[in-house]
Amino acid sequence: MRNGCFFIVSLQLVLAAASMDDIEQWPEIEKVALEKRRELVFQGAAFDERIASNGGLCSAIYTLKLLNYLEVSQCPSLTEIHEDIQHLTSLQSLILCRNKLASFPSVVGKLKSLKVLDISANNLTVLPEGITQLKELNTLNVSCNSLEVLPEGLSKCTRLSTINISKNKITAFPADFYSEKLDLLSMLVAYDNSIEQLSGDVHKLTALKMLDLSNNKLKEIPPELSDCAKLKEINFKGNKLSDKRLEKMVNGCQTKSILEYLRGRGKGRQGEEGADAEGGRKADKGKRQQRKKKDKGAEDEVEELNKMVVKVLHVSDTPEALTVTVSSEVKDVRPYLVCCIVMGMNLQSGNALKRFLVAQTKLHDDLCGKRTIATIATHDVQLIKAPLVYDVKPPTQLKVVSLGRKEMTAVELIRQLQLEADELRKQKKRQNVTGLHKYLQLLKGKEMYPCLVDAEGHVISFPPITNSEKTKIKKTTKELFLEVTSAASLQTCKDVMDALILKMAELNKFTAEHQEEAGSDGEGDGPQEPAGSSETSSELIVQQVRTVDQDGSLKVVYPSKTDLCSAISNLTVVW
Ligand SMILES: *[C@@H]1O[C@H](CO)[C@@H](O)[C@H](O)[C@H]1NC(C)=O
Ligand SMILES: *[C@@H]1O[C@H](CO)[C@@H](O)[C@H](O)[C@H]1NC(C)=O
Ligand SMILES: *[C@@H]1O[C@H](CO)[C@@H](O)[C@H](O)[C@H]1NC(C)=O
Ligand SMILES: *[C@@H]1O[C@H](CO)[C@@H](O)[C@H](O)[C@H]1NC(C)=O
Ligand SMILES: *[C@@H]1O[C@H](CO)[C@@H](O)[C@H](O)[C@H]1NC(C)=O
Repeated sequence: MRNGCFFIVSLQLVLAAASMDDIEQWPEIEKVALEKRRELVFQGAAFDERIASNGGLCSAIYTLKLLNYLEVSQCPSLTEIHEDIQHLTSLQSLILCRNKLASFPSVVGKLKSLKVLDISANNLTVLPEGITQLKELNTLNVSCNSLEVLPEGLSKCTRLSTINISKNKITAFPADFYSEKLDLLSMLVAYDNSIEQLSGDVHKLTALKMLDLSNNKLKEIPPELSDCAKLKEINFKGNKLSDKRLEKMVNGCQTKSILEYLRGRGKGRQGEEGADAEGGRKADKGKRQQRKKKDKGAEDEVEELNKMVVKVLHVSDTPEALTVTVSSEVKDVRPYLVCCIVMGMNLQSGNALKRFLVAQTKLHDDLCGKRTIATIATHDVQLIKAPLVYDVKPPTQLKVVSLGRKEMTAVELIRQLQLEADELRKQKKRQNVTGLHKYLQLLKGKEMYPCLVDAEGHVISFPPITNSEKTKIKKTTKELFLEVTSAASLQTCKDVMDALILKMAELNKFTAEHQEEAGSDGEGDGPQEPAGSSETSSELIVQQVRTVDQDGSLKVVYPSKTDLCSAISNLTVVW
């Protein structure tokens, strides 16, 4: 690289305009000039030393009028750029990241061809007004500086498609920033700032696809954001939003759900749990589906194949939907209950039912802390006589047909389970079998025991002990009634239910993918589905179930918009 001396004599002429400070030190410049190259890169420590000893960039750089790509990066000795940079009028990319620029000349506005300006990771406190004259600029990266404001007039840069202002101290976007003129702006990256407000005018940025405003000081997200039709990805994590539900959503949910929630609010229908903005949702549904079809490229479709889909049926659309009444006495025993109905779960094929029961046991062991934290029960909807009441009964009067046993009272059942547990412990010769039947202790000393009772007075579940033989699921079960109870909190129930549904979606996908094989090698011991009779869809439908108190007022609807928001990207929830 440093063998440029050979050219020096002739370069004296070429570079006559430049002050000949130390041209020998900069053979790259000579080479670029001689060979009429259009790109020049100075990067890293070796160049930094030269910049340090020269007291800045060699002024000869500014004579290279043919350059269209200039990069000087990772040179902490570079603290300023000379105004002569204005002569490099062919420049399309100017990359000056990771230096220590404390200022940047406004004459940069004269670089009429500039498309990419990267001055990220410097020491800038202001951006020069000149930037707003860059009519061709499409990418602006000023992240990792100490900027407090952006210049007014940025909307004059009408070719801008990407703006990265992350990691600064910016408190607001300039008023003229939200402008229809920026109709190519698709990516706005502004995380780690101090932005306090996002204007409702944000909808004027019609091309916006990605908006990252995480770790700012926003209190609200304007509903108008949902009018940005191209928006695919938003990030508002790490803002203290006044709508706590929204705050929860932005920390867990997918963009689609959040935008839909905002859309609902925009229509002034901030519903209670589950009853959100039905009208708004329906009105937008058609439009959205059209858009979805149109936008979906081949790539998306491949992605779509790997996704699990859960569709939610809303109680408001299904007036006959099951409701569970919760008696007031239950609050002293085991207050929290969340229910829903799942359709589309294939338990018929091969070992699908077995896999589901194993998965449930695993959830009981792990997430439910061996049932001490929460308990899951599953039922065949067809065998349930609605309506259901979540009630309490005295231990001697609570009669239940537990799985694989004859009918007995709760007292008898618990005594028997305890005996069995002791026996097992002896067999295994262990003093401390951890957690084995620990949940039996949970009801100790309670005068009343919790139970879910159907319309005929049958106990269909006695949490955390057992559910009933009467309603237990089989291979032929088409619709499942899921129930999660807990003494800990409502959220605990919801978290467990979320996990259960996710697990079911995974299992159902697995079953769908392996159905053909099972059909051909006859893995199943039940009746076989005729090949090709039904398309192997693994989509689950979750129907909301309401719980109400004795006066009929709503307690919980599951799932609601804040549920099923696990950050798992391959589960798509269609609301
Ligand atoms: C960055 O700029 C601030 C003033 O804005 C100055 O105090 C500081 O020394 C600069 N840092 C470096 C590394 O030049
Ligand atoms: C600056 O941002 C642009 C656009 O977001 C990106 O292409 C570029 O890689 C970033 N620069 C650095 C140094 O990360
Ligand atoms: C924004 O710029 C920073 C570097 O300053 C970079 O790390 C980040 O990837 C950029 N973000 C995007 C989305 O381009
Ligand atoms: C008790 O359980 C712990 C952890 O499961 C185990 O490490 C320990 O050996 C057990 N003690 C006895 C006496 O079985
Ligand atoms: C969903 O994604 C997780 C990882 O994010 C992966 O472990 C799991 O296998 C995926 N499930 C399906 C059904 O693709």
